[in-house]
Amino acid sequence: MRIDVVSIFPEYLAALELSLIGKARQDGLLSLTVHNLRDFTVDRHRTVDDTPYGGGAGMVMKPEPWAQALEDVRGDSRPVLIVPSPAGERFTQAMAHELAEEEHLVFACGRYEGIDERVLDWAADSFDVRPVSLGDYVLNGGEVAVLAMVEAVARLLPGVVGNPESLIEESHADGLLEYPVYTKPSSWRELEVPEVLLSGNHARIARYRRDEQLRRTVLRRPDLLGKLDVEALNAADLAV
Ligand code: ADE
Repeated sequence: MRIDVVSIFPEYLAALELSLIGKARQDGLLSLTVHNLRDFTVDRHRTVDDTPYGGGAGMVMKPEPWAQALEDVRGDSRPVLIVPSPAGERFTQAMAHELAEEEHLVFACGRYEGIDERVLDWAADSFDVRPVSLGDYVLNGGEVAVLAMVEAVARLLPGVVGNPESLIEESHADGLLEYPVYTKPSSWRELEVPEVLLSGNHARIARYRRDEQLRRTVLRRPDLLGKLDVEALNAADLAV
């Protein structure tokens, strides 16, 4: 997969050189380039923003540097252009899977009050444009959102996570939150690991874990229950 990120703070994205994503880049599983939007300005001050038409607080990112940058990174294909924004559609694990199938992703990090809307209209000719929000809160810019999205997508690429089994049992893989986990010692500060996990009875362990997933989801994220595939629930699930 190829990923290009355009930002006025390329240093923000340095974290993508670390850990599993850094290793995936070194191993050639992922080609990721971060571009400085200011390199695509033509004036002496390398200006990327201006005041908003219609008035109002803050500044808006100018269209010209964005068009230059996007033309530069586009390549021959039709990439997905992800524009992080609190006004976008919600990022989910399902979207991460969808994006992991793409050949080329471009992330456009807005700052200030956002990017001139005409950039998105213009880009729609040669990109699949997707404004995407991490959640219902406001960040200062797209960079932190890009760190999260790139990590969520890249770890789904073949070979990035050493043991692919761990992708199957994690939160959101089946629409539920994941079950709690424990390691040695079995007794710690008078707190015991649930007895069933020491029993060696795989059927009981599987049932216990599934019950915990359902219990946690009901308690912490009841909003997820409405989206569950009812067909995927069995009689024992419904008894919880
Ligand atoms: N930029 C600012 N806030 C954001 C959010 N909630 N999600 C994605 N990008 C953002």
